[in-house]
Amino acid sequence: MVVGPGRMLRLAAGLLAAALAALLLDWYGQAGPQRLGQRRPFAREPAPGAEATNLFWVVQVSDIHISRFRDPKRVPDFEKFCSETIDIIQPVLVLVTGDLTDAKTKDKLGSEQIEVEWQTYQLILKRSRVMEKTKWIDIKGNHDSFNIPHLDSIQNYYRRYSAWHKDGSFHYVHRTPFGNYSFICVDATLSPGPKRPYNFFGILNMSQMEELSSLATESHHSNQTIWFGHYPTSTIISPSSGIRMVMSSATAYLCGHLHTLGGLMPVLHSRHPQGTLELELGDWMKNRKYRILAFDHDLLSFADLNFEEWPAVLITNPKSLLYSSSTHEPLVKILHSTHIRILVFSPSFITSVKVSIDGVHLGDAHHVSGPLYVLKWNPQNYSEGLHHIDVTVQDAIGKSSTQGHTFAVNENLSLRFGFLSSLILLTDHYILARVLFGLTVLVQITLLLIFRYLRKPTLKGKSQCFVCIF
Ligand SMILES: *[C@@H]1O[C@H](CO)[C@@H](O)[C@H](O)[C@H]1NC(C)=O
Ligand SMILES: *[C@@H]1O[C@H](CO)[C@@H](O)[C@H](O)[C@H]1NC(C)=O
Ligand SMILES: *[C@@H]1O[C@H](CO)[C@@H](O)[C@H](O)[C@H]1NC(C)=O
Ligand SMILES: *[C@@H]1O[C@H](CO)[C@@H](O)[C@H](O)[C@H]1NC(C)=O
Ligand SMILES: *[C@@H]1O[C@H](CO)[C@@H](O)[C@H](O)[C@H]1NC(C)=O
Ligand SMILES: [Zn+2]
Repeated sequence: MVVGPGRMLRLAAGLLAAALAALLLDWYGQAGPQRLGQRRPFAREPAPGAEATNLFWVVQVSDIHISRFRDPKRVPDFEKFCSETIDIIQPVLVLVTGDLTDAKTKDKLGSEQIEVEWQTYQLILKRSRVMEKTKWIDIKGNHDSFNIPHLDSIQNYYRRYSAWHKDGSFHYVHRTPFGNYSFICVDATLSPGPKRPYNFFGILNMSQMEELSSLATESHHSNQTIWFGHYPTSTIISPSSGIRMVMSSATAYLCGHLHTLGGLMPVLHSRHPQGTLELELGDWMKNRKYRILAFDHDLLSFADLNFEEWPAVLITNPKSLLYSSSTHEPLVKILHSTHIRILVFSPSFITSVKVSIDGVHLGDAHHVSGPLYVLKWNPQNYSEGLHHIDVTVQDAIGKSSTQGHTFAVNENLSLRFGFLSSLILLTDHYILARVLFGLTVLVQITLLLIFRYLRKPTLKGKSQCFVCIF
């Protein structure tokens, strides 16, 4: 059988595409089990039991985009969040991961820092007294650094009107009697801050990377470390080993910026090859999203929630297997725990917290104090394989909510993240942009060359002279 050149070409292209797909799947498939096996020697004790100790929780909210021109409900809703929602949840810390203001012009096309947006933000903080109730850490996003010629500029309203008001990366330690917990901010915003749309990527230079590296070293004494910033790591341009390597001792990196990609990706979570979780949070701007994140006996768990949807439920033991990292967390504590532990937040009275595993009802969890509910269990009964826990909470005004996840007591098991969210969070998009640019140039030059050698233009009569002139 004779194979024509066209067919050969198609075959080669097909094979190439298949090889590329296999390569991609292999790389992003790693967003599950950790291959770096250096486990810290974790203590089994204290293990989760019936007391409300070794437990705290924080809140994250992102991309508020307070705007002078758009969505008049955004501001009163945010004020209600700062007063009522925070009063119900009572977190020890709130992280606001950038884009406090919208800074867009009325026609939506341009950008400028609008002082009245910043004044509105500050007014909300003052009126709600949220800074007296909790530690409020607000950092800059790309919108907060549009059109700022230099950090000392009067246009840098972040310095004047925000709660944190210091530019740059920093390390905040939450100290408790049962341990120290590090929160490290990555400030990759640009200075000078360009206009829209030249501000989509964040950049870290060599000296900023060294600073982050020393913050990481400082945090090694802490029980657990969380990093947070505005940009997902896939949109940060950083030198040498890269930002993911620098934060590899963190259990999770919290960010915003992508706004659920216009509703296409409501959940954007993945895991770095080093085992650190990357948890993008949807925006407050349109979707009114926020996150509760808890450390219970040094095990991390979190729930991404919608404003005013109650009751809010977070199962902290046994934690979700998908979000477990044996390199960063003492997963052995699940096996030695005596109780299932659940945090329930609601403005109304809770009437029942029903727990079932693998479809078998185990009983009602009872209230300990604050939001904590517990139910005695025997983890040995689930020591093999994967299991599913479901918790249904009912409140006095008839609202209910069910939360569940897959867990494992055997710490050697793991699950993988979705291909698409890993692709979005783990690809260095600026490299992709460079490759695309290079390819575009290459294709155009190739086309020119092909047309140059393929056939000479056959021009007739006088028009030939017309061409000669140019
Ligand atoms: C927390 O840090 C302080 C100061 O560095 C230290 O004295 C204390 O022992 C630490 N606590 C724990 C539980 O590690
Ligand atoms: C790195 O960036 C910081 C902040 O933007 C700046 O102050 C510093 O001069 C830069 N360092 C280098 C070596 O470019
Ligand atoms: C935090 O770390 C200290 C020192 O390693 C340890 O004694 C303590 O039990 C840890 N806290 C929790 C909640 O596991
Ligand atoms: C664990 O399993 C044993 C035997 O299957 C059963 O008798 C016991 O009730 C179970 N315990 C719990 C807490 O589910
Ligand atoms: C997990 O793996 C380690 C080493 O591969 C092994 O020693 C340990 O027994 C395993 N644990 C369980 C619960 O299977
Ligand atoms: Zn934003």
